[in-house]
Amino acid sequence: MTEQNISNLSQENRTFEPPAELAASANVTADVYDTAAADRPAFWGEQAKRLDWGTPFTEVLDWSNPPFAKWFVGGKLNAAYNCVDRHVEAGHGDRVALHFVGEPADDTRDITYAQLKDEVSRAANAIEELGVEAGDRVAIYLPMIPEAVITMLACARIGAVHTVVFGGFSSDALASRIVDCGAKLIVTADGGYRRGAASALKPAVDEALVKIDNESTAIVENVLVVRRTGQDVDFDNDIDSWWHEVVDEASEIHEPQMFDSEHPLYVMYTSGTTGSPKGILHTTAGYLVQSAWTFWAVFDHKPDDVYWCTADVGWVTGHSYIVYGPLANGATQVLYEGTPDTPHKGRWWEIIEKYQVSLFYTAPTAIRTCMKWGEEIPATFDLSSLRILGSVGESINPEAYVWYRDNIGGGRTPIVDTWWQTETGAHMISPLPGVTSGKPGSAMTAIPGIAAEVVDDAGNPVDNGEGGYLVITEPWPSMLRTIWGDDDRYQDTYWSRWPNVYFAGDGARKDEDGAIWLLGRVDDVMNVSGHRLSTTEIESALVSHPKVAEAAVVGAADETTGQAVVAFVILRESAGDGGTEVIQELRAHVGKEIGPIAKPRTIMVVPELPKTRSGKIMRRLLRDVAENREVGNTTTLADSGVMDLITSGMKTAKDDD
Ligand code: PRX
Repeated sequence: MTEQNISNLSQENRTFEPPAELAASANVTADVYDTAAADRPAFWGEQAKRLDWGTPFTEVLDWSNPPFAKWFVGGKLNAAYNCVDRHVEAGHGDRVALHFVGEPADDTRDITYAQLKDEVSRAANAIEELGVEAGDRVAIYLPMIPEAVITMLACARIGAVHTVVFGGFSSDALASRIVDCGAKLIVTADGGYRRGAASALKPAVDEALVKIDNESTAIVENVLVVRRTGQDVDFDNDIDSWWHEVVDEASEIHEPQMFDSEHPLYVMYTSGTTGSPKGILHTTAGYLVQSAWTFWAVFDHKPDDVYWCTADVGWVTGHSYIVYGPLANGATQVLYEGTPDTPHKGRWWEIIEKYQVSLFYTAPTAIRTCMKWGEEIPATFDLSSLRILGSVGESINPEAYVWYRDNIGGGRTPIVDTWWQTETGAHMISPLPGVTSGKPGSAMTAIPGIAAEVVDDAGNPVDNGEGGYLVITEPWPSMLRTIWGDDDRYQDTYWSRWPNVYFAGDGARKDEDGAIWLLGRVDDVMNVSGHRLSTTEIESALVSHPKVAEAAVVGAADETTGQAVVAFVILRESAGDGGTEVIQELRAHVGKEIGPIAKPRTIMVVPELPKTRSGKIMRRLLRDVAENREVGNTTTLADSGVMDLITSGMKTAKDDD
């Protein structure tokens, strides 16, 4: 272990073999890794045959001008045709595409592929009527309702570029995204249902239009409004129109045009550590090939599976693994509008039981919340239909992994811990459920066709057993093509650290077998007495204590050690309030699990953690608290009151050395 690299201290020795039956019928077998590595472009060229092409491509990859890649050169296709029409033409029109479950009780709607084709065609005709052409941008600001999926596909069908803005974002976030990509049309709703109440959306659109001074800038030409909740809205007839008037009246016949492989498909904004949000651009063919193939391979998707991804369509997970990946495969899936605890904490498990969900994909933060609520809640539902569980968004702590496997998966189901990013577009590092023996907490190895490495400061691969920076060394089909309107920022942000190598911003280590363990964003790495410690490992050690439900760790400036470990923990409901005894116990526990160097200097028991709306912990704010600073900008928090709760608790806390 060199001081340059991230220390590798935690130990996890459990492994779970793929179930024999699953391995025997798995979509992907072990030999595919070697075949793909022998000739990556040929491998992806082969996978591209899963799609229907208007014009076949002549070259798989043009990497003559790195980091600007062109995949499937010369090909033409239509993404919406591939996700919808071709399944109807193949005789699967009666298959359910979406089991929509609204948050209010009994608000459900099943949409077959044939119906989806009609709806998407109507929306495509209507959007064209509103003056949108291929290449124009459309902002989508909708709740998790079928119209969100339909609008995305309608845009893809006509070659318009969609940018979905998460419905929980404010009018400021919406306004800045509209301006950055120059959206001509906004598709929104009066509101959606959240936590048992109608929550308005349209007013934020109205405010955004004022903020961008649309009266004079005239960026946005039309706003199309879905009536979801029936709540009152201000309606400006010059710019607003109702979905049920415009779309429902449109023809369900729409001829899809074929677009170039590199035609822009969507822009998804993601925050960086500094500066304005980055508009990540994904283009048509490469993105669709990799999202379709990974959905089929990583979830081992079979035609009779019922799949459910709990992400919002406003995030990349919703784009790749609710819309494009599953629908390109003709999958049947659940689309749920609401929160996991409305009207009761068993709502998700009730939905799995009702629809016989077999493939389930969620985030570690949600799993830990369910752990906090207690295993007796899922235990009252029949979850035996589940065969594979997925995790995405951050490292899944080994304890949460085992809890998920045992309490949701009945101890049977493999867990696919999928590492990827908005920028990568699709899965990059993940177990394959019929091939890989899963280790709790590890995303394991790069999927076939992807070249990932862990390197040191000089860019050299580290040995097994060591930590460093996670990089991708070869281009991949669903890679971002640029940052919208800013090629320089694209190059600087992702490709400048080492020549022609994509740096993902994450720390990782390779264990003795070469399996990859994600260690969090490198900016979250701490340096305690000259040892680089990973926040993820210490958090996992804390969560492995039976009294802890969630933990967030930050490094705070410390005169003696450079930085000191400060932990914020949420206790499980069964653990009581916590007192000095619990804190001693937890420090000792981390010391035992990782080593004395990692023992937190301070442990704060808190009721909540500050999270962004996509569930990522905002460690920056916790660092402010830990270093006794005024807490910085909290506007992107899901719940802005959380910081008051934490800071008021902090004043009464004592360091416990
Ligand atoms: O730090 C990694 C973490 O999430 C980052 C990407 O975030 P975003 O672009 O919002 O996409 C989230 C959905 C793909 C990564 O740089 N991350 C994502 N998945 C994992 C993960 N960290 C560890 N393990 C994962 N499975």
